[in-house]
Amino acid sequence: MRNLILIGFMGAGKTSVGKYLARNAGMAFVDTDERIVAEQGMEISAIFEKYGEPYFRDLETGLLERMQTDMEDSVVSVGGGMPVREQNRELLRSLGCVIYLQATKATILGRVQNDGTRPMLRGEDLEARVERLMREREALYREAAHLVIHTDGRDIPEVARTVLSEARKFGY
Ligand code: S3P
Repeated sequence: MRNLILIGFMGAGKTSVGKYLARNAGMAFVDTDERIVAEQGMEISAIFEKYGEPYFRDLETGLLERMQTDMEDSVVSVGGGMPVREQNRELLRSLGCVIYLQATKATILGRVQNDGTRPMLRGEDLEARVERLMREREALYREAAHLVIHTDGRDIPEVARTVLSEARKFGY
């Protein structure tokens, strides 16, 4: 098993940290959004537009279920909404050591400001949207996570090093 699963809000650095970490620790890297895009042959925004959010959430759960049997020694970065479903929180925890990359609203806003690719952040008043979603999700991220790592003001290598050392202390 020995997988490291990175969860957290959009812009928390899951993919950047995950890629860096995997490269440096000699582990495989898997990004659930990238997998879904490859399997569906469509961008995430197109899936949301054509089929709606619940359909995308079902794809996420289906992927997580399949990953239970074929995933080993991997760093897995998951979409920001993955831990919202209770079933997914359980599946994430059984997949490996779940690490919540935490960041403040200010940090997140700085990172997602000019990003038009995320359907959950489309529309009026980005700040209000981010604030509401972060409020709704904070407790769920904590519930899903074995470890919480703060990322504000820290660069990718520093966060990756901390993830690895904390996970090792945790027994991974
Ligand atoms: C989402 C986050 C995105 C992607 C989708 C929905 C969310 O992933 O899965 O746009 O609900 O938070 P990132 O967290 O990698 O941006």
